[in-house]
Amino acid sequence: MNDFEEKAQAAIQNPQNVGEMSDADGVGTVGSADCGDMMRMWVKFTEKDGKKVIDRASFQAFGCQTALAVASMATELLKGKSVEEAQGMGVNDLTGDLGALPPMKIHCGEMVQDALREALNGGEAKEESAPKGESNTLLSDMNKPAEGKKLKIVFE
Ligand code: FES
Repeated sequence: MNDFEEKAQAAIQNPQNVGEMSDADGVGTVGSADCGDMMRMWVKFTEKDGKKVIDRASFQAFGCQTALAVASMATELLKGKSVEEAQGMGVNDLTGDLGALPPMKIHCGEMVQDALREALNGGEAKEESAPKGESNTLLSDMNKPAEGKKLKIVFE
């Protein structure tokens, strides 16, 4: 196991900031075209010295352990960052102490970065599409039928 893998394993054992954020100001959901894995990230802003900064961030990941490790690290690093600072963070900034991602895992970090950017860029945090009593989780979204697609039964 290399250095990155060891640190990622440790992060996966004790992930930080996992779960929905009911009072979030922004939410971003992305899927990786490379592997089909998904990530959703929430951000909550606060004001510090007259500047809008990230108070906290949380995430849900589906499918990818590396993305989970990176998102765990990133959501810790984002606290107190301005929107501009957070937007300027590249994949290797978001990995923090985990270190640089191995080449085959770069898309995992990019998925975290994309979810973060969408959340920062006005991704709306609302539960408009969730049926009553159901929360709009990443998993419930994935289990929903694709919009506009109806099941067609053909008798032969
Ligand atoms: Fe696809 Fe990690 S293996 S996001």
